Amino acid sequence: MAFIHLDIRCLYAILICTAFGSTLSSDAEIKVKPPQDFEIVDPGYLGFLYLQWQPSLSLDNFKECTIEYELKYRNIDSENWKTIITKNLHYKDGFDLNKGVEAKIHTLLQGQCTNGSAVQSSWSEATYSTSPQGNLETKIRDMDCIYYNWEYLVCSWKLGMGVHFDTNYNLFYWYEGLDHALQCVDYIKSNGKNIGCRFPYLESPDYKDFYICVNGSSKSQLIRPSYFIFQLQDIVKPSPPDYLSIIVKNSEEINLKWSIPIGPTPAKCFIYEIEFTEDDTTLVTPTFENEIYITRTSNKSQQLCFLVRSRVNIYCSDSGIWSEWSDKQCWQGDIWRETLLFFLIPFAFVSLFVLLITCMLLYKQKALLKMVFHTKKELFSHQETLF
Ligand SMILES: *[C@@H]1O[C@H](CO)[C@@H](O)[C@H](O)[C@H]1NC(C)=O
Ligand SMILES: *[C@@H]1O[C@H](CO)[C@@H](O)[C@H](O)[C@H]1NC(C)=O
Ligand SMILES: *[C@@H]1O[C@H](CO)[C@@H](O)[C@H](O)[C@H]1NC(C)=O
Repeated sequence: MAFIHLDIRCLYAILICTAFGSTLSSDAEIKVKPPQDFEIVDPGYLGFLYLQWQPSLSLDNFKECTIEYELKYRNIDSENWKTIITKNLHYKDGFDLNKGVEAKIHTLLQGQCTNGSAVQSSWSEATYSTSPQGNLETKIRDMDCIYYNWEYLVCSWKLGMGVHFDTNYNLFYWYEGLDHALQCVDYIKSNGKNIGCRFPYLESPDYKDFYICVNGSSKSQLIRPSYFIFQLQDIVKPSPPDYLSIIVKNSEEINLKWSIPIGPTPAKCFIYEIEFTEDDTTLVTPTFENEIYITRTSNKSQQLCFLVRSRVNIYCSDSGIWSEWSDKQCWQGDIWRETLLFFLIPFAFVSLFVLLITCMLLYKQKALLKMVFHTKKELFSHQETLF
């Protein structure tokens, strides 16, 4: 019986094999069409574009198959295509609108109906670019945006070269969460021209692409718009650390401390750089903590000084801007010199001042007494003459 069973199984196997074999030969001819109506749509978000398409015709024949789309897109001139495989009929991403955009898509069939191997259609292509207006010279120059203390965004720029006197520029911005692009409401001006923008309070704008367009107008020429994309956490410039202190633990060890810059930046997001000076030698070193222990190179060193600056670290952003350096904090080895500097000198000054005031008062009082005496005398003589 066991043998018969085996035989029957074998027969089934052969049958299935031949059945697949036959689909195999027909599979070689499976053809699928590319998606229809592929287009790139600009919703007015200054670089955030929609890529959308419709299913290809005759997909009904492939009901057992997974139908996917392979989408490739890039800014014209850029080296690499971004590749996305999706079952959806749309995709959204940010593009640099200073350049054109190109995209292509094809249908992918996978699964039983294709005998396990992938079948792809030919490509369907689309391009998009904002109608180029004005020559390059009319663009703004040296755009610089800083997100101060993870709180206030300020951008500034220089006027385009060779633009007519009546040219003025406007800034628009958008990020995910805004219904539409907004215009700057607080421009920084120079000679009546907009040369920067102080942004209002922005609601959770970080860790998203932030899109900016600075375009302009003039009666006599067209002005080329400029587009920018960045993430705000990457352009944070913190305020410098404050309240520095030096604690000389013993003849060898020194503890340097400072306060974490106040503001919305999380404490774990900072990296600091310390510039430590021991007499004439200077050491520059980074640290993630707001304190550091340093070994003195000589226990005879007379002056220890340090200053500190801060930046957002790699755990919180891809890049950042160093804060200004803090004020310098020093420790003087010689106690006497310290007392002299910090106590005796001011004391001497104060004493001198008091002495001077007393002298002046005394002098004035004397003069006053003299005057009173004189008038009294005069009065008396006057009275004498009356009687
Ligand atoms: C179909 O599948 C068989 C067995 O799995 C394989 O040998 C054959 O190459 C496949 N045909 C195609 C067109 O992929
Ligand atoms: C500048 O860009 C904004 C936002 O895209 C647009 O509404 C406005 O019409 C543009 N202005 C000019 C002069 O092109
Ligand atoms: C200073 O350092 C020297 C050796 O470098 C050591 O002999 C001496 O004891 C130290 N002085 C103090 C006050 O620790």
